[in-house]
Amino acid sequence: MSEDIVLKTEELTKHYGGVHALVGANFEMKKGEHIAIMGDNGAGKSTFVRQITGVEQRTSGKVWLYGEEVNFAGPLDAREAGIETVFQTLALADDLDVPDNLFLGREKTYANWLGPFRLLDYKGMREATMAGLEKTGVKIPNIRNSIRNMSGGQRQCVAIARTATFHSRLTIMDEPTAALGVQETAQVENIIRTLKEAGEPLILVSHNMRQVMELVDRIIVFRRGRMVANLRKEDTNGEDVVAYITGAKTGAEFEGAA
Ligand SMILES: Nc1ncnc2c1ncn2[C@@H]1O[C@H](COP(=O)(O)OP(=O)(O)OP(=O)(O)O)[C@@H](O)[C@H]1O
Ligand SMILES: [Mg+2]
Repeated sequence: MSEDIVLKTEELTKHYGGVHALVGANFEMKKGEHIAIMGDNGAGKSTFVRQITGVEQRTSGKVWLYGEEVNFAGPLDAREAGIETVFQTLALADDLDVPDNLFLGREKTYANWLGPFRLLDYKGMREATMAGLEKTGVKIPNIRNSIRNMSGGQRQCVAIARTATFHSRLTIMDEPTAALGVQETAQVENIIRTLKEAGEPLILVSHNMRQVMELVDRIIVFRRGRMVANLRKEDTNGEDVVAYITGAKTGAEFEGAA
């Protein structure tokens, strides 16, 4: 398969007992594309994200990343393969401080002349953390505090700062600005624009129509576990998208990549 296809899923399906949360998702995204996933609460958006990133094991179906078939055993595996994800229910380590969370699995080290061990570069990590947080616009009084003591929005910004700090082959954000104030939301939207300019692909799960219409190239609508629409932004509008979300409009056969 072509390496120009960043991510492809074939008949990706997840059942939780009798709940068919995700049914036969055929998804394809090209290099540099920014795609929004929209849909009502419970439509299967986060389930889709969890199957791609190895948070859960899929019921059936296949996933390819840059042409290579993948089946991640866990989220750290996906991260290692270059997928940086901001999860809706945040996957941050409560007992670690901000730099440790940012660098989890990607610790900066330097060689230790005393022996074969590498030392953690705490100063370098703190500096990069401050730079990353600055891009999100969030004010965190003390980055050495553990995540446990932070507000929902502050936590979300720590997770987003990670995507602004490291280059990734694919960034996935599941409702990244849901808990953020107006200014922080604007800053995060700027981070997304920067990713676009750098040619880094993004999947953005969002309920925010204004945000979606401003930021992405393509909108995929989920309804009751199924992908029901695949719309190029220039061919659609907010009203049209809402019609697919609510089920008022159906019938446009889902055809995978536009
Ligand atoms: N661990 C689980 N066990 C059982 N059912 C689950 C589980 N996780 C999700 N579900 C169900 O799967 C369906 C899809 O949930 P999902 O979290 O993917 O929705 P969503 O589209 O992300 O919604 P929201 O916009 O509210 O975040 C829902 O009906 C939900 O109740
Ligand atoms: Mg969700």
